[in-house]
Amino acid sequence: MALMESDIAFLCDVVANVSGNVISSEQGYLLESRLRPVAESEGLASVETLVRELRSGRQPKLESRVVEAMTINETFFFRDQHPYELLRSTIVPQLLQARQSEKKLSIWCAACSSGQEPYSIAMCLRDHFPELNTWDVKIIASDLSDAILQKAKNGLYSQFEVNRGLPAKYLVRFFDRDGMNWQVKPELRQLLEFRKMNLTKPWPTLPKFDIVFIRNVMIYFSNPTKEDILRRLRKTVAPDAYVLLGGGETILNLNTPFTRHSVAGTVCYRPQ
Ligand SMILES: C[S@@+](CC[C@H](N)C(=O)[O-])C[C@H]1O[C@@H](n2cnc3c(N)ncnc32)[C@H](O)[C@@H]1O
Repeated sequence: MALMESDIAFLCDVVANVSGNVISSEQGYLLESRLRPVAESEGLASVETLVRELRSGRQPKLESRVVEAMTINETFFFRDQHPYELLRSTIVPQLLQARQSEKKLSIWCAACSSGQEPYSIAMCLRDHFPELNTWDVKIIASDLSDAILQKAKNGLYSQFEVNRGLPAKYLVRFFDRDGMNWQVKPELRQLLEFRKMNLTKPWPTLPKFDIVFIRNVMIYFSNPTKEDILRRLRKTVAPDAYVLLGGGETILNLNTPFTRHSVAGTVCYRPQ
């Protein structure tokens, strides 16, 4: 039985209110297919029953399970490559000079999904900038979803996952074999700090970041939500920081305190 329009509208509202992710009612079919496994695992007979439970407010945890089921977690190692090329060729060399006296580098990977993105950043730093080994380098990796953050923390990936974007030399250098899987070595994991954080809700106190990867997440937000996040982001980055968005994302036409720079064909954003 298909979901009623009022149930679809209710679910879209829940997802938008909790996570900022905008789902149009035409994507109702997605709700059915994504929420059926949630209903089953909660012992509920159908998605309609799940909606009833959600409306009743009897199971507060159900709301986050529904929201997490509706977010897109697609990610892979060294996604798009050019952000990492920009890190290597321009961003880190500039910051190495600018932060020479304090020897401190703070990086935020907001919406890190299952961890491939922050681990790619860490591998890039370890491979190309051995001088950073004596610096205080911290990569904060955050996401909305508990389940996906747990996977990121474990740093355990299948053969299929490591085949997606990870160069063979990095697999050998930074991963240990674990049965059929591969686990990120502790020396790389120790660079990362994982935090649960919803970008659309108030943020905890954060350090002043030098580099922010906030890629392939704002694409799911409304323009006012994007503007709000970028205004708050401006307050938590250094004046000479670099912000990287996803390939298909732009903040042109938005009112934000960042300006667009194109460096060797790669777009990044810097505080105004
Ligand atoms: C498509 S993945 C992108 C992962 C990675 N940044 C990349 O580019 O490969 C989007 C991630 O954003 C997270 N997300 C969605 N809404 C969020 C929010 N309001 N706050 C924090 N993370 C959110 C999802 O849980 C998901 O892991």
